[in-house]
Formats: sequence, structure tokens, C-alpha cells
Amino acid sequence: MKEKHLEALLKEERVFSPSEEFSQQAVIQDPSIYDQGQDYLSFWEEQAKNLSWFSPWEKTLQWNPPFAQWFINGKLNASYNCLDRHLNDWHRNKAALIFEGEMGDSQVLTYQDLHREVCKFANVLKSLGVKKGDPVTIYLPMIPEAIIAMLACARIGAPHSVVFGGFSYNFLRDRVQEVQSKVVITADGGFRRGKTIPLKVNTDLALSDVDCVNNVIVVEHTKEKVHMEEGWDLWYHEEMAKAPRICPPEPMDSEDTLFILYTSGTTGEPKGVVHSTGGYLTGVSTTHRWIFDLKEEDVYWCAEDIGWITGHSYVVYGPLANGATVLIYEGSPEYPHRGRYWEIIEKYQVSIFYTSPTAIRTFMKWGPYYPQKIDLSSLRLLGSVGEPINPEAWVWFHKYIGSGKCPIVDTWWQTETGMIMLTPLPGITNLKPGSCTVPFPGVKLEIVDKNGDPVPYGEGGYLVIKEPWPAMFRNIYGNPEFLQKTYFEHWPGVYFTGDGAKWDKDGYFWVLGRVDDVINVSGRRLGTMEVESALVDHPLVAEAACVGIKHELKGQALVAFVVMKEGVQGTPGLGDNLKNHVVKKIGALARPDDIHFTTELPKTRSGKILRHILRDIAEGKTIGDTTIVADSSVVNSLQSNYRR
Ligand code: WTA
Repeated sequence: MKEKHLEALLKEERVFSPSEEFSQQAVIQDPSIYDQGQDYLSFWEEQAKNLSWFSPWEKTLQWNPPFAQWFINGKLNASYNCLDRHLNDWHRNKAALIFEGEMGDSQVLTYQDLHREVCKFANVLKSLGVKKGDPVTIYLPMIPEAIIAMLACARIGAPHSVVFGGFSYNFLRDRVQEVQSKVVITADGGFRRGKTIPLKVNTDLALSDVDCVNNVIVVEHTKEKVHMEEGWDLWYHEEMAKAPRICPPEPMDSEDTLFILYTSGTTGEPKGVVHSTGGYLTGVSTTHRWIFDLKEEDVYWCAEDIGWITGHSYVVYGPLANGATVLIYEGSPEYPHRGRYWEIIEKYQVSIFYTSPTAIRTFMKWGPYYPQKIDLSSLRLLGSVGEPINPEAWVWFHKYIGSGKCPIVDTWWQTETGMIMLTPLPGITNLKPGSCTVPFPGVKLEIVDKNGDPVPYGEGGYLVIKEPWPAMFRNIYGNPEFLQKTYFEHWPGVYFTGDGAKWDKDGYFWVLGRVDDVINVSGRRLGTMEVESALVDHPLVAEAACVGIKHELKGQALVAFVVMKEGVQGTPGLGDNLKNHVVKKIGALARPDDIHFTTELPKTRSGKILRHILRDIAEGKTIGDTTIVADSSVVNSLQSNYRR
């Protein structure tokens, strides 16, 4: 029997074409690039030639599903590609990193500076006995030393495992133990919202019952007093002062592990995603250059932490391999005031700004007052990643941040894909708010039914990837069975993303949300994105999350959690108003049975809405593990205010 696909309800007719001015200067101007991508092996081979290889590969791809190998026997080094090769000409004096601290302090490192610091730190790691293949754990705030540490690991072939600085000590302990790091790199603390985060204290707690670690390197940042254990804890600046300045890059095999990155997704179970060197760098550098339309003079800001894949691929490896000027900011968007991001954009004349829908919806909740006060005319391109962007949030971003002139690249990808997979190419793609448009050249995504057959245009189904791509993850650390079971079990040789999506009549992709979150109302399957977008379409709503809870007659009832824009007064008829708005927008089938107003939604630390927790709240279940939630007080207050 044919699987009942996901419903495709939302009709979004607005189209935004790139201006002639933008198209004529764009890196990619010729749509025939998509034809070139059809032969994906020769396409990726061409792109890999843009990297510097110590010795060339002998075979492009070996594909034994679920295991891929790319550019077999090729030798290269990621830090060489991000640094050394830019030192032969004027680029050595180009700003590689611009750091802005929460307190307004700043620092600029040219490519030459960054190269020197990376070489020295690589020598520090070597002096502590770290060798090729030894995983190193990095637990740092968004400061230049975090990127120096990552590239130093890459230089000597030690895979890094970055643990987001906002994670608690038990997360850190588990990660360190799993990869058996000999060295952990941390700081005395980090700054966030005018307060400090006690990273060293957390590290001490984490390592108190771990026996693999020999040394902890501590960056002096907040200058708070911390306990330093003689012979075990070492100050970064003291070790750097002693370190030689020359460190040749280790020739790495294309397939050697560049890093391990733990991700817990929205469901909880953490998995160590393993990425390679040659294929990964090929994927992230090509996508970064084409999608962000990178020019020499750009100041590029991706406002994501290096603790996430976005930070790895599009703060560090993609941009630096391309010789870009990368801005990093340590603090939060609302400290000391809500115009902080816009002030930074103006201060450094940022031209490309990449952020998440969750941040955009927060800006929307605060209102346009803050960006409107500041001159944002340096911006020429915007990007979004991490969740489906609701069309109204897209339009808000376009209007108030992009002054109606900047294309927005809505980029769909995953920790596992390593690189952006669905995206516009901003000089040639017509944009539709809410759609991440089409596959990047050389990648093969489809939307299929239960049998693995493509669904017709206009319908929804499962988002899958049919052919290997160079930046795909190579394994789940210590657990290859998990890889097969989680991603490749449904259809042989086909990667299942876990997301539902629909195709519109033009073949554009619209991601509808995780299939685990699908709501089943009277046998009709609704993705969360469409109902949420219909709610966010209401002028008073900033954010919404929808869940299905058990219902005797309908299978599931649809409950919506809604966050209003600031300053909006609740009125008695508002809930009914919103329900009617959904009906008007996408049909009676999607009418919420219940609307619950709240000021915050439970989210992961990377900003994704945790719908399964909302489902448990709405069903009156006890909520088990809330360690995955960024702010557990949000869960407590939702629980105590929820009326059933
Ligand atoms: C979601 C983040 C819609 C999706 C790079 C995916 C998106 C998961 C988009 C991966 C987008 C990411 N539109 N949904 N543009 N980007 N997602 O591993 O559900 O943190 O499967 O990687 O985020 O999240 P991850």
C-alpha cells in the first residue's frame, strides 16, 4: 500500500529575484553549473583541485554503502589549506579573524598572525605528547584561541572534539572519556550577558573522575582566579611563550579524521559524528565560496558558535580555506542592549551575515526599532540555517536587516552532511520565502514515499540523499552499527535525513520539519513547519511550535504553543482569532485544537525548538531528562502554567 505522504498545505506565492546589480557581480552567474553537477564525480574532482594537495589522489570515490571514501590516497593538510597557502602573496596581511568581545574589546589577526599562533600552539601540543590520531578536546568560548586550537590540532593530525562552552561538566566528562583525550583545552571562563561562565571550574569537575587526561591547557580570558594544579594545569600564554614558531604541517591522508563533533539533535542521544579531511574541505570551501558569493573585500560574519557544525564548516574551515575575513563575536545579541548585533555590523562594515531562524524570530519579537536605528547598508547578503524559516520571519529579515535588497540564502544541511546541501546560489536563484530552494550542484537529494519512490511535484514525503557527497560524515565514533541503523536502514544505499519535505510545482524543496514531530490528525500527516508558519504569519505572533497529542477520535489533536511579539496585550478572543487565521491560511484540517500562550519555548543550546518536551507537557507526562534544554526554567514555567 502506498504510504500516506506528508500534506503540503502552505501556499507561498512570493518570489524574490536577485537584482541585476547583484547577479552581474556574482561568483556564480551561469545556471549551467547545475548541468555540470549532474556528473557528480567529475564535478567534485574539479572542485577538489582548488585545494592544495601534497600529493594527488588516485581514485575519486569508493562507495561501499554506508561508507564512502573520497580522493583516495590524496595527501593534504587542513591547516596548510587554511593558512600557509595564503602567505605567498598580499593575503598574508589580510585580516583572517576579527574578534569582538562582549565588552567591546577587539582583536585582529592577519593570516600571517594566525599562522604563527597556530604553529606555536601545534608545537605546544606536540611537547605534551599529542601525536597524529590522538583526539584533543576543546572547551572554549568564541575567542581566537578556539580557532587557533582547532587549526593547531589539524596541523599535527590530531582530531579535535569541540564541546560547546555552554554545556555543563557532565557533558564534557562523557565526551572526554569517549574519545580518550590526553589533553583538554579550556579557559578560566567565558563572558555571556555580562556574566562569566566558569569553564575551568566545570573542567575540574568533569575531569575529577576521568583518567585519560595528562594535561589541561588554560587560556587566560576573564582573569578570574582559578585553581591551577602544578604539572597538570598549564597556562596557554606561558606555554606559547616557550614554543618554537615553526611547525611543518603533517601530511594527512584525504580520509584521515579531521574532527569528531558530538551532536544530540533534538532527540537527546549524543553521537560523535566523524569527518574526514579531503572530502570535507572540498565540500565546505566550494559551498562557502559559491553560496556566500565570497569576494576578497567581504567581511563575513556567521554568528554561530564553533561548538556546532556551522561553526566548524562556515566559521573556520570553509571561510579560511577561501582566504576570507571572518568576524567572530563572543557575547549574546542582547548585551548590553538589543542592538548589539547591528552595532557590530556597522562597526566592521559586515557584508555577509549568516544566522538562524531562532535568532531572527527573537529579533522579530523585539521589533524593528533596534535595527532601524543603525546603518546596515554594508550588508549585501544574508543567510539562515538550523531550522525551517517561517516565510514571515524570512520577509522580516529581508526587509529590516537586508533593507529589501540583500538576497537571503536559506541553507539546509546537517552535522552529518558537513556542508550545505539545499540552497540558493544567490546570483541565479529566484527566492521563495520558506524554501531552501534546490540541491547544490553535485548533490542528489530527493523526496520519496515509503517505498523509496520520488513523490510527484506538489506533494510531501521523506527527504533523502541518493548519492554520496564529499563532505559526508564517515562514521559515528566507535559505533558504525549506529550509522547503518539510523541513516541507511530504510532504503538500501540511500541516506535518510530524518526530515520531511515537499516539492512545489517548480521543484523547489520546502523542509517541513523532523518526521518524528509529524502530527497525525484523522489520518492526515502534517509537518510542523506549515502550521507554525501559518501562525507566525499573524501580525502579532513572533514564534510558534505545534505538537500532536493523543486524541480518542482524531488520533491526535493539534496543540500550538505561541509566543507573541513584545508589547502585545492578550485579549479574550485572541486564541480563536489565531485558530481562524490558520484555517484561512492553510485549511480547516490544520486548525489547532488548543492554543497555549507563552513567552519562551524550550530549545536546545543551539536554538532548535524541542517539540517532544512540549508534547509531554501537553499530555501531562512527567518530563524526564531536561539536560538537553538550554534553559530548564522555561520547562518548569510551561509545566506549571499549562491548563488542560
Ligand atoms: C534542520 C545544522 C529547514 C533540519 C546545520 C536538519 C533546517 C537539522 C535547515 C540539522 C533549513 C537545518 N531549513 N531545516 N535551512 N537547516 N535544519 O545537525 O531538521 O544541528 O535535519 O545541523 O536542522 O541540524 P544540525
